[in-house]
Amino acid sequence: MGERRVRVHLATDPGVPWYYRMDREKLEAAGRDFPDTLRQIEASWSDEDEGFRRGVRDAEILIGWKFPKERLAERAPALRWIQLNGAGVDHLYPLDWLPPGVALANASGVHTGKSFEYVLMALVALNNSLPRLIGYQQAREWRKIQSGTLPGRTALVIGLGAVGSGAARAAKTLGMRVLGVRRSGRPHEHVDELFRPADLRRALPRADYVVLATPLTGETTGILGADELALLPDGAGVVNLGRGRLIHQPALEDALRRGKLGGAFLDVATPEPLPPESRLWDAPDLILTPHVGADDIERYIPHCLRIALENIRRDLAGEPLRNLVDPALGY
Ligand code: GLV
Repeated sequence: MGERRVRVHLATDPGVPWYYRMDREKLEAAGRDFPDTLRQIEASWSDEDEGFRRGVRDAEILIGWKFPKERLAERAPALRWIQLNGAGVDHLYPLDWLPPGVALANASGVHTGKSFEYVLMALVALNNSLPRLIGYQQAREWRKIQSGTLPGRTALVIGLGAVGSGAARAAKTLGMRVLGVRRSGRPHEHVDELFRPADLRRALPRADYVVLATPLTGETTGILGADELALLPDGAGVVNLGRGRLIHQPALEDALRRGKLGGAFLDVATPEPLPPESRLWDAPDLILTPHVGADDIERYIPHCLRIALENIRRDLAGEPLRNLVDPALGY
C-alpha cells in the first residue's frame, strides 16, 4: 500500500504583508523538522477568494486565519479540520458556518516571545510615567516626574495561556510579585499567587499593574469595567494585549481622564481599526499601539507552520491534535 497522502490548503488572507504570507518556501523551511509529514502533504495555496474556493474543493485540512466562511460544508466536502494561524478565535463566532464534525485548532504559543517583550516595555514605560512625559515633550514643557523601580510592585495577569505566560515572565523578570487569574486554577511557573476568575475582585486592590491576556469570550467581555477599575489602587496601570472588548472602553477612558489610573498601554481597541473620531485617541496617559504587540514578524508564520505540521503529523499517526479549540469555551 502506498504512503497516505493528505490534501492541505493554505489560505493567506488577501492583501496581508509578507510576514503573514504562507508560501512554499516557508512551508519547506518549517518542514525540515517534519520531513516525513512534509512528503505526505499535497499542498495548494491561495491569497484571494477564487483561489480559496478552488483550493478547498478537495482539501482535508485548511490552514488559514480569516478565510471566506460562507457555505464551507458545500465548498469543502472533504474538510476534516482547520488549523488557524493565530490564537484568539472570537472573529469566527458564531460558529454556525463550521461544518459539522470539522475541528478547529489554533496556533497558541506563537505569541509568547513577543508578548514577553511587549509587556516588559509596557510595564517599564508605565512605571516611568512615559505616556505623561511624552505629553510634556509634545507641549515643549521641561517638567519632571520621577519614579521608583519595579521590584516589589505587583502585576496581575488575567489569562495565563501563551500570551499571559509571556506577560507573567516579563513581570517576574522585572522582579515583580505576580498574581495570576486562570480558569483552570493550574499553577504557573511565573505566578506567585493564583486566583480563579470568580475571585478577581479580591486580586484587583493589590495590583499596581493589570495585564489583560485572556481570549475574548462571553465570560471575559468587559472583565475590566467601571467597578473593577474602581477596585484598583489609585495610580495603577493597565496593559491590554488581548482584545479591546475585554475592557469597558468608556470606563477606562473615564478612569484615565479622572487621573484614577496612572496610565494605560493598549495594543487592542474597540473597534479595530480605531476610527479617527474615537475619543480614546485623546485620553491622557495612554499609549495606544495598533495590534502589533504580540506578533514577531520574522518568526510568526514559520512558527504557525511548525504548529500546523506537528498537528498534521499527529493526524496522520492517528494521535489527538494539539491546541484544539473548545467551541463552548471559545478558546
Ligand atoms: C491575534 O490577535 C491572535 O489572536 O492571534
